[in-house]
Amino acid sequence: MSATALEVVGLSKTFGGLRAVDGVSFAVPHGSLTALIGPNGAGKTTLFNLITNFFRPDAGEVHFYGSSLARLTPGRIAALGLVRTFQSARIFPGMTTLENALVGAHLQLRAGPLQQMSWLPAARREERTLLARAEALLELVGLARARDVAASELPMGAQKLLEVVRALMARPRLLLLDEPAAGLNDSETAELAALLRAVRANGITVALVEHNMSLVMGVADQVVVLDAGKLLASGTPAQMQADARVIEAYIGIDEAAN
Ligand SMILES: Nc1ncnc2c1ncn2[C@@H]1O[C@H](COP(=O)(O)OP(=O)(O)O)[C@@H](O)[C@H]1O
Ligand SMILES: [Mg+2]
Repeated sequence: MSATALEVVGLSKTFGGLRAVDGVSFAVPHGSLTALIGPNGAGKTTLFNLITNFFRPDAGEVHFYGSSLARLTPGRIAALGLVRTFQSARIFPGMTTLENALVGAHLQLRAGPLQQMSWLPAARREERTLLARAEALLELVGLARARDVAASELPMGAQKLLEVVRALMARPRLLLLDEPAAGLNDSETAELAALLRAVRANGITVALVEHNMSLVMGVADQVVVLDAGKLLASGTPAQMQADARVIEAYIGIDEAAN
């Protein structure tokens, strides 16, 4: 865990006078699982949009394994291995579960454009490998039996798990997940936790935005807390659970929810 997968330095973004992200710096160590938490509106999704250049920052820099991501398009960033999901599931409604999973592999197909003609043996082999990986991942999240179902027919929780599978099919080095457990029931959340542990065990670094504290405390190595655009605190899950500033920010959430 010596190398740094992601380094965020002084990132800022203002929307019409609102400081959505305000001078945020943190690092995600290679091989770790970092949870980003904070009340609604804290700037978590905006931070992901800045890291992946969906939004251009007003200030600050992002380094991915030591290289600046400034001026790269979101597509190029994904091709480098920094792959994200969205807060609301974005599955392809006209495709089956399996086809949705396979779409993710487009980012990293090794066979060149000519070899993608499926009658060539190299492309055939690659396709079989992808199919086997997709099936294994679907099995891991309990979606194997739904492989030929139209993805739009899946319950919301299953669609969210499918989106994580699709992101994994792109063979990310760093996976950014925005509220992957939102809308998941208890058994789906347990499947997600198992998937996250398997992902980390395979050397893939993960940063996730998450409200489900038992999931965060169960899987995270590091917790980064945002509040009103600013970094409030960071540390181990146990340190953050005992941190008075963090507890206060979360009491704020409970009041807002009632
Ligand atoms: N595209 C946008 N245009 C204007 N304001 C935005 C935009 N995206 C987010 N915001 C605002 O920035 C703040 C942070 O939002 P967001 O990053 O979505 O928070 P979180 O994901 O932590 O709930 C909120 O006040 C939100 O309304
Ligand atoms: Mg959000």
